[in-house]
Amino acid sequence: VAAEKGGYPHFMLKEIHEQPKALQDTMTGRLYPDKGEVRLDDIKMTKEGLESLKKVFIVACGTAYHAGVVGKYVIEKLARIPVEVDLASEFRYREPMVGKDTLVIVISQSGETADTLAALRESKKLGARVLAITNVVGSSVSREADDVLYTWAGPEIAVASTKAYSTQLVALNLIALHFAKLLGTISDEEFREIALAMKKLPDQAKAILDAEGEIKKMAERYADREHIFYIGRGLDYAVAMEGALKLKEISYIHAEAYAAGELKHGTLALITEGVPVISLVTQDHLYEKTLSNIIEVKARGAAVIALANEGDEEITKSVDHVIYIPRTHQMLTPVLSVVPLQLFAYYAAVARGCDVDKPRNLAKSVTVE
Ligand code: G6P
Repeated sequence: VAAEKGGYPHFMLKEIHEQPKALQDTMTGRLYPDKGEVRLDDIKMTKEGLESLKKVFIVACGTAYHAGVVGKYVIEKLARIPVEVDLASEFRYREPMVGKDTLVIVISQSGETADTLAALRESKKLGARVLAITNVVGSSVSREADDVLYTWAGPEIAVASTKAYSTQLVALNLIALHFAKLLGTISDEEFREIALAMKKLPDQAKAILDAEGEIKKMAERYADREHIFYIGRGLDYAVAMEGALKLKEISYIHAEAYAAGELKHGTLALITEGVPVISLVTQDHLYEKTLSNIIEVKARGAAVIALANEGDEEITKSVDHVIYIPRTHQMLTPVLSVVPLQLFAYYAAVARGCDVDKPRNLAKSVTVE
């Protein structure tokens, strides 16, 4: 087993460190910034097929659902099709408004999650086309979907999903670019800008991993807390949800993600002296808004750890600590900002003596209901 972990103490840490390669592998042969092309050979949808769509549903569970929340944002932004994201366990019992004019994108690392598979079958029965994003070749989801896009993350063993999530984000960005190209909703310049930025993500993720010592120290410092909050707006909120889930799953610290603008509608009552608030501020157009929320929680004594873009000196004035991520395209920040949050959860769990790879009560793949 030690050998399988490649020298790492846990599969989770190994898988976190495999992300540069996994991101790279998920893009290889698919993305050509200079030719202005994205090649997704297993997606057979045509321009006409896409034009006939009234709606896209993204359906998944757990971490894959959190990837879907990012997917909604990028597909709507680039392809201008309305997207709804749903939990598979809710979607299937709701008489979803799905038909021939609907595309259902299911996301599942394992391709075997019972609720996700049932949602796929229900969607097909209702006449929808189904596109699957999965990490396992030959999985049930890959066999039953009309179109498949594989994430090439390699086997993921740790129960807490890491490289599957970041590669799902890349897959969703590829789909958004592909649809936008077919529909003509993206300019050549914008395509090239995003595609070039995507190509840099593996090296940028590596740079974050190379500086993990700092995150480890911070995680150890706050590992004795019972509550930690995560706030952000837009894509930062989507990543906050995933960061909070990681922490809950493996460290058993109670974590909650909040859309920063919603704080004043409830959660602010829980912010007292010393409560850690991890604040994501990577979205330029939302920066001032989130900053005002940071000032609100600081005024109540919170210990604020900001997750910000490299070069943002301004933020240091308002917070206790800053974790920087390299600058990328605004739409792609989740691929990078999740990495420090994965490391934070990991090192907090290790400091608490938790069984990181096999958290209590949880399974890697939930194939029964
Ligand atoms: C389980 C795992 C999670 C995962 C979820 C969905 O709960 O513990 O890490 O996100 O299932 O799994 P899937 O294989 O469908 O992505």
